Amino acid sequence: MSKDLQSFDTRNTYSVASSDYAVAAEEFWGFISDDTVARLDLRPGMRALDFCCGPGPMTVRMAERVGPTGHVEGVDILDEMLGITQRRVRERGLDQVTLRHGDIDALPPGGERFDVVNCSLGIYFAEDMVRTLAAFWSYVRPGGTLAITTIGRRLFEPVLPVFFEACRSERPGMGTYLPWVRTEDPDVVRALLDAAGVTGAEVTAADTPLPLGSPEAWWPIVHGSGLRRLETELGPEAEERVRKTCEEWIAEHRVDRINVGTVRAIAVKP
Ligand SMILES: C[S@@+](CC[C@H](N)C(=O)[O-])C[C@H]1O[C@@H](n2cnc3c(N)ncnc32)[C@H](O)[C@@H]1O
Repeated sequence: MSKDLQSFDTRNTYSVASSDYAVAAEEFWGFISDDTVARLDLRPGMRALDFCCGPGPMTVRMAERVGPTGHVEGVDILDEMLGITQRRVRERGLDQVTLRHGDIDALPPGGERFDVVNCSLGIYFAEDMVRTLAAFWSYVRPGGTLAITTIGRRLFEPVLPVFFEACRSERPGMGTYLPWVRTEDPDVVRALLDAAGVTGAEVTAADTPLPLGSPEAWWPIVHGSGLRRLETELGPEAEERVRKTCEEWIAEHRVDRINVGTVRAIAVKP
């Protein structure tokens, strides 16, 4: 595994953040899953697969669309995330969902069994993204769809640079590597898909400004995202100072929106 990816410590980051991530995934960036599901031609009775399902924003949405005659399989490496998704599907009576522990770095061949294969905000955790994309493609039936969503450029602007600077002034030399920078460029995503043999992908990038209701609304976003890795490294006292610096800057600059960039790829298998 690359040193950068290792420094992020994916498992610990999302294990600590799991319940806060679940809240942010619906309340803050639920639009990502809403947009993705709207682009997929999901119909009753279909079979869908959700890699890196996390707390299930896409698993739940896809299950609602394929209905009780369909089937959705959610896969994640973390039991905490699978537990949250399990509770959510049980509460909604979505018996058509099965969840299983799985690692996108070690997938068995897929057997072309699924109408739709989705991976939202997960591909950049793979050690070898080409190998993983080729594995995802092997799960898609001919005529079926692969959907990949990643984080794009300008994430959390204009606040993220202020957050980074505040972290570094607390901990000079602190690494601020975030894995999603690996796929923030749509051309890179296109090249990875080509190298994986995924043909005819349509790749698009967009910026979405989201409302930031108050300066205090920033910290739950840190808490419920991959930025949690940096927060954890700071420790409680430095974290409090960084939070205050960000909130003061947001108030002073009257920031009421922050950007979420996304890159989306959709490919239909010939
Ligand atoms: C940023 S969350 C995305 C969750 C969800 N797909 C969404 O759209 O909100 C990333 C998820 O990928 C999972 N993950 C990270 N590395 C993984 C791996 N190697 N295999 C399977 N899941 C992994 C994490 O546990 C986490 O639940």
